[in-house]
Amino acid sequence: MSVRIAPSILSADFAALGDAVRSAERGGADAIHVDVMDGHFVPNLTVGPPVVRALKRVAQVPLDVHLMIEAPDRYLNVFAAAGADALSVHVEASPHLHRTLAAIKALGMRAGVALNPSTSVTAIEEVAGDVDLVIVMSVNPGFGGQQFIPRSLEKVRATRALLARAGNPAPITVDGGVDGTNAAALVASGAALLVAGSAIFSQDDPEAATRALRAAADAATTKESA
Ligand code: DX5
Ligand code: ZN
Repeated sequence: MSVRIAPSILSADFAALGDAVRSAERGGADAIHVDVMDGHFVPNLTVGPPVVRALKRVAQVPLDVHLMIEAPDRYLNVFAAAGADALSVHVEASPHLHRTLAAIKALGMRAGVALNPSTSVTAIEEVAGDVDLVIVMSVNPGFGGQQFIPRSLEKVRATRALLARAGNPAPITVDGGVDGTNAAALVASGAALLVAGSAIFSQDDPEAATRALRAAADAATTKESA
């Protein structure tokens, strides 16, 4: 299956989010990635359920909501009601991860777990059979436009192996510093969904940038099948 692209609206013009979503979709975006930050788990504040609700009115593709917040259990139902299709929590912020994942699914959303760069893949070993997606953070979460951490490629491979041992085909998402220079290597390592903020919305033409990122990522698939 071709790699999927999820533009992150974090780098978009917040005064024109509808336009941002539409241009990404014209470029072939498969999902819209929404970064929720609470100023505690990460040193930044962004958006919450009202913005997810507004995006839901304009987006044709699913909304992947990435919670970078402490005690995410308090807000699962609110994000479900706002229209999140997938909801990811951080393993570092979720002491009862098994219960949290079950609660997300019970609300009708796909349940994801995200790992900070310094968190070992083994942190999710016991829930490897329960996750619908895993987000491998390739920057320390909190801000767009940071530099990709090269070690993340190995982390993606380790995550792929862990999920394979659990017999779980859940897609691996990579988030942070993703662009045309690392997309193919990420896909070759086992990434199925690439999140990109600045590589898409800090460009003059987000539609073309979405297409270009997919083309760069697909180079890995083409090479493999050749
Ligand atoms: C980082 C966020 C990312 C961010 C990625 O904390 O989780 O989703 O938007 O932005 P870029 O692609 O610019 O690194
Ligand atoms: Zn994110």
